[in-house]
Amino acid sequence: MKQQTVERGDNLELYLGQIANLFDIGRIISKTQKKQDIIAYYVLNKLTYRLFYSWQGFYHSGISYDGKRKKADFIEQARIIGEYIEDTRARKVLELGCGLGPNSAFLARNCPEVKFDAIDLASRPLKRFTKIPNLRFYSGDYHDLRKFEDHSYDIVFAIESLCYSTDKAQVLREAKKKLRNGGIFIIFDLYQRNRANPLSHAEEIMWELITKGVAANKFECEREVEDYMRKEYSIAEAKDLSFCILPSFERQESLARPYFNHPAFARAVNVLLPFDVVKNWFVVLLIPTSIRREIMCYHLHVLRNDG
Ligand SMILES: C[S@@+](CC[C@H](N)C(=O)[O-])C[C@H]1O[C@@H](n2cnc3c(N)ncnc32)[C@H](O)[C@@H]1O
Repeated sequence: MKQQTVERGDNLELYLGQIANLFDIGRIISKTQKKQDIIAYYVLNKLTYRLFYSWQGFYHSGISYDGKRKKADFIEQARIIGEYIEDTRARKVLELGCGLGPNSAFLARNCPEVKFDAIDLASRPLKRFTKIPNLRFYSGDYHDLRKFEDHSYDIVFAIESLCYSTDKAQVLREAKKKLRNGGIFIIFDLYQRNRANPLSHAEEIMWELITKGVAANKFECEREVEDYMRKEYSIAEAKDLSFCILPSFERQESLARPYFNHPAFARAVNVLLPFDVVKNWFVVLLIPTSIRREIMCYHLHVLRNDG
């Protein structure tokens, strides 16, 4: 049978058909993700992310301002945080959901006089990052930050990790307790864009496949999360960077297409690799469409603890 070729642009119906040909969509989207599922997902995908995303260990989107994907795009979030460290003359910084540790490692190397702590639920840091003298890694859940000293941090930051929280108000309160008066909480994250019209049926399925595909339960609306933010902080800066993450995801989309265009090959891969690994193919296939259709968005928020 002749394969359908995929054009660049919006192919949502075709993509969903190709995914349905290989996976039980109903089963995937009806599953509730638990803490154990997040842990299993990140433990299993350590190599996948490093091979297909960033060998340096970043588990987040690249930010490109000129529409062209570059290696340096992955460092942009940490570079922006570095500017805040410099501007506020921060001495103590805490990262929530640090993954393999590349963000805090980059910052700790550039700011040797600043003390960094970093916590993650699932991932252990890359060995080379554990040798940086002004950086300490902890294993744990960011909903409970008791192990860190109260009112002692100048900056807390989280890159694409709060989207996993089922109680963002709690994390925002916990982070506030750790910040000194006037300290800031910097968040880069993915949300569902505020919408005037409901999603179509196909868009709902796409959204659920992306959400469950990355082991999250719900990507909340930016407005909902900003309401939680305003209860604890003032919003000092909010920036929509959604279209800046497209180039890195479009590359992933083009890497995923051959898998879906060759279902016999894809079925063989599905037998060999765990579902937690192969599901990344449909996630990266769909994310660019969700951004272009203005459903997924990516924001920077800088929150100030006014006491
Ligand atoms: C998309 S990755 C981002 C990792 C890292 N921030 C980066 O930029 O490379 C999300 C991370 O959040 C962590 N995470 C999810 N839920 C968490 C929780 N409740 N407490 C701490 N970390 C959590 C995951 O283990 C994962 O490493």
